[in-house]
Amino acid sequence: MFMNFRRIHKCQCVQLLITGLVLCVGMVCWEELDHYVVSHMRSYTYRYLVNSYDFLNSSLTITSKHRHRKNGSDSVDGGLGNYPYLINHPGKCEGSDGDGKSWEDVLLLLFVKSSPENFQRRQAIRDTWGNESFLWSELGASVRVVFALGMYPDLRRRSRVQNALLQEDKAYGDLIQQNFVDTFHNLTTKLILQFHWGHEYCPQARFLMSADDDIFIHTPNLVKYLRQLVSSQSGAKDLWVGHVHRGAPPIRRKDSKYHVPYDLYPWPSYPDYTAGAGYVVSGDVAAKIYHATLVLNSSIYIDDVFMGICAKAMGVSPQEHIYFSGEGKAPYHPCIYDHMITSHGHATDVRSLWQAATDPTVYNNYRGYMGNLYCTAVRVMLLCLPYYQNTYSCMAAFT
Ligand SMILES: *[C@@H]1O[C@H](CO)[C@@H](O)[C@H](O)[C@H]1NC(C)=O
Ligand SMILES: *[C@@H]1O[C@H](CO)[C@@H](O)[C@H](O)[C@H]1NC(C)=O
Ligand SMILES: *[C@@H]1O[C@H](CO)[C@@H](O)[C@H](O)[C@H]1NC(C)=O
Ligand SMILES: *[C@@H]1O[C@H](CO)[C@@H](O)[C@H](O)[C@H]1NC(C)=O
Repeated sequence: MFMNFRRIHKCQCVQLLITGLVLCVGMVCWEELDHYVVSHMRSYTYRYLVNSYDFLNSSLTITSKHRHRKNGSDSVDGGLGNYPYLINHPGKCEGSDGDGKSWEDVLLLLFVKSSPENFQRRQAIRDTWGNESFLWSELGASVRVVFALGMYPDLRRRSRVQNALLQEDKAYGDLIQQNFVDTFHNLTTKLILQFHWGHEYCPQARFLMSADDDIFIHTPNLVKYLRQLVSSQSGAKDLWVGHVHRGAPPIRRKDSKYHVPYDLYPWPSYPDYTAGAGYVVSGDVAAKIYHATLVLNSSIYIDDVFMGICAKAMGVSPQEHIYFSGEGKAPYHPCIYDHMITSHGHATDVRSLWQAATDPTVYNNYRGYMGNLYCTAVRVMLLCLPYYQNTYSCMAAFT
């Protein structure tokens, strides 16, 4: 009896030990995930505060003694500033090319954030979704596409790359370059370039878009969408649309590309913002953002977060559009092409996708009641199964 009891006791001990061991291993493995979940829950709760009160606004506003530092102009130095232009086209928004496009009716000023060495990408964009002549002759839409650039970072090759840029600009006349080093940590400077250029040289544009040079934009669908907004009376005002990040936490891991230290941004949540891959603002919002860049500290180098801070200060909130992708790449299918606006991660297949997505005969098999039904089923398959996560949300299947 006594022995039996001791044996049970021993068994329990072993059991306890094993359980403990498993728990330990589990905790080590889950720590990462747990950290992720907790920081997201915390930031999501905090998001309410960030979006509701003005403390962010007031603590990032630059005191007036720091303004007017640069030659008495109203540019601000919040660590970064307003740099002189190396390549510029002040007349880009005026219809100087005599083809009927005129200054007043620029529907969209489209900035592509490019880097000096990305010639191939710019060329693919000019040949496809960024072809102004195509949009004008096929859709009657006045769109201006320009590329925003800084200087090539490597000093030894800079002058060679710069010469190539000048040649390229001679041929196409669509580069806008300022005298700052084109690096990841200078993206906010590039954002400021876009809003300052728009304010100075193209204030009449109904909409301004900012996009990466590795995205695909279905510009005919975009033009259709923007025109619907213009004709809907209230719609062309107070608009900031894209793929919205709500209550995203700053990343504090030092090894991350997006690492932001506490002294740069102390709060556990960013204000809501749209993914920088591609978003659109209406002209009035572009003007507001311009004014915000004059008074806010632009040291935070994640450009889309800075955009969120500017918008927050001006009382503008981002709107979700289900067919603006954030990081995701859209599945290839005519039932998607019919609706898509942006898709991310297209460095090499822009030309083939453009061909497929704008071929007028591509939809012929998908018309009518049966076509609609079929397309909804296809979209459910493509968007709602876990395989394609991260592109358009499942809801997009039913629009
Ligand atoms: C902007 O913020 C940074 C980091 O918090 C700070 O070091 C800098 O002094 C600020 N600049 C101005 C002009 O307030
Ligand atoms: C742009 O579109 C026009 C009009 O459709 C076309 O003639 C021209 O070849 C296109 N340009 C390029 C570079 O593809
Ligand atoms: C941004 O550009 C400026 C001007 O060229 C340069 O001094 C600075 O080092 C750049 N910042 C980063 C983080 O690359
Ligand atoms: C943010 O701060 C600026 C300057 O302090 C102020 O002019 C502006 O009205 C504030 N914005 C909001 C939405 O309160």
